[in-house]
Amino acid sequence: MRFIETWIPATLVSTRDIAPGIREFLIRPDQFDATAYPVGSHINVSVTIDGLPETRSYSLVGEASSHGFKIAVRRADDSRGGSRYMWQLAPGARLDITQPASLLAVDWSRESYCLIAGGIGITPILGAAQALVRRGVDITLHYAMRSRAEAAYLDDLAGMLGDRLVVHASDEGQRLDLGALFALLRQGTLSLFCGPMRMLDAARHAWIGAGHPLPDLRYETFGSSGTLPTEPFRVRLKGSNVELEIPRERSMLDVLNASGHDVMYDCKRGECGLCAIDVVEVDGEIDHRDVFFSDHQKECNQKICACVSRARGTITVDTLLRADAV
Ligand code: FES
Repeated sequence: MRFIETWIPATLVSTRDIAPGIREFLIRPDQFDATAYPVGSHINVSVTIDGLPETRSYSLVGEASSHGFKIAVRRADDSRGGSRYMWQLAPGARLDITQPASLLAVDWSRESYCLIAGGIGITPILGAAQALVRRGVDITLHYAMRSRAEAAYLDDLAGMLGDRLVVHASDEGQRLDLGALFALLRQGTLSLFCGPMRMLDAARHAWIGAGHPLPDLRYETFGSSGTLPTEPFRVRLKGSNVELEIPRERSMLDVLNASGHDVMYDCKRGECGLCAIDVVEVDGEIDHRDVFFSDHQKECNQKICACVSRARGTITVDTLLRADAV
């Protein structure tokens, strides 16, 4: 059950391999409107996984262009199937996508900005950097990566930012120390972050620890990167004999809805909280992959965002839908 979502037909115009395991896709809607979209915008792409329709969300790379929408997809080893589907597409392929939308509210009135990207999280940060450079404000971009050779858009960023780009390549022993970085930032700096969940958790802790107000740390997530590997797990439904297997490549939300247990949703990115359902028992471990619940709420394990969060073992949930009401 979803609220608003308008799908538009589009064509994959071209692909370009921009780093090992990272491919850029240029997608042009049939009715293309090249007006600017907000920083941090993403589009949803309809993909097919094991013959079933699914949705994947990808950040748009850079600012609006007259050629179409650009996304970059990392071929993930523990992919739930979205990156595999995207990577087998050839130019000319037809796709259904949604119009760009952004949940990353940027306050443009600050004097200084600190941008932080981890790995493929550089995709929404690139457009933010372009927009801020045009505005002539104080900006530094910290880009964390395993190695320069594996990093996307490094040359573009170096050309645009010069020494305002700080590369943290772990194979060079230059790991990003978020605590040290935030301790040196002046109050009033706005930070824009995009990276994996573990890095986001560290950023939030370090940000608060350095005395900055949490609303000044804005972030985008992948919505699919957790702390446990992406593996199948089981979900029992309270008050029924139903036990469902959640395969590696599907979300709990999709499996519940496909089996008639109407769970509401909206963003499917772990951000809005609409899909949250009650957890009754955990026989294993929950991997909370949302950014909706607080750390404390996640520790309590009383609710789970069914769209992105996963588990190891078996969890019992209450969808509040009773068998006699189905
Ligand atoms: S649908 Fe928004 S958090 Fe799950």
